[in-house]
Amino acid sequence: MLNIALPKGRLGEKAYGLMERAGFGCPEIHEEGRKLIFENSETGVRYFWVKPSDVAIYVERGAADVGIVGKDILLEYEPDVYELCDLGIGKCRMAVAAPVGYKDNTAQTLRVATKFPNIARAFFSSRSREIDIIKLNGSIELAPILNLSDILVDIVETGTTLKENGLEPVEDIVQISSRLIANKAIYKFKIDEIERLVQGVKSR
Ligand code: PRP
Repeated sequence: MLNIALPKGRLGEKAYGLMERAGFGCPEIHEEGRKLIFENSETGVRYFWVKPSDVAIYVERGAADVGIVGKDILLEYEPDVYELCDLGIGKCRMAVAAPVGYKDNTAQTLRVATKFPNIARAFFSSRSREIDIIKLNGSIELAPILNLSDILVDIVETGTTLKENGLEPVEDIVQISSRLIANKAIYKFKIDEIERLVQGVKSR
């Protein structure tokens, strides 16, 4: 049985679609309800719906054999897992954004609001720019509007959230997409099943 952690939400449903087309379907997963675990002994899979930012924790600790996770989470938390392949879904970018027309005053420490302090710190450190990180858990776009921060570092997909809040992207930090990851120890003894999954999703 292959234990697979899927990120709850729209992306997870897309990811499950990939798995299903690769021959790892589990029809029970389509049933309405609040159940979080689904299995299909015929295809040898057990799926869990996990909060997207927790997928890598389940995989790193071996509660799941494999999982689907955004590259943003891998860069931010650097979990000790194998990154097996890029699934080509969940494409977006990590970017610096600011109020339209914002000019940086390099004489002052830059206040940066973000859910991704490590990514932001590494980026500004490579520019030798001194920053003060304001760690938030969501709605990051509010921070510069309310003068909690000067700028923000966040995920930009369509750019609509920025635009509708009087903000604009200033610079891209890194391109993001969803990755298939595996627990390092489990990979060794479930290598055949896991590689069959990798080849299956790659060919879809
Ligand atoms: C994400 C991200 C941006 C938004 C970007 O937020 O943090 O706010 O999507 O998408 P867009 O460029 O297409 O507008 P999410 O919906 O995950 O919620 P959050 O604000 O709670 O992080």
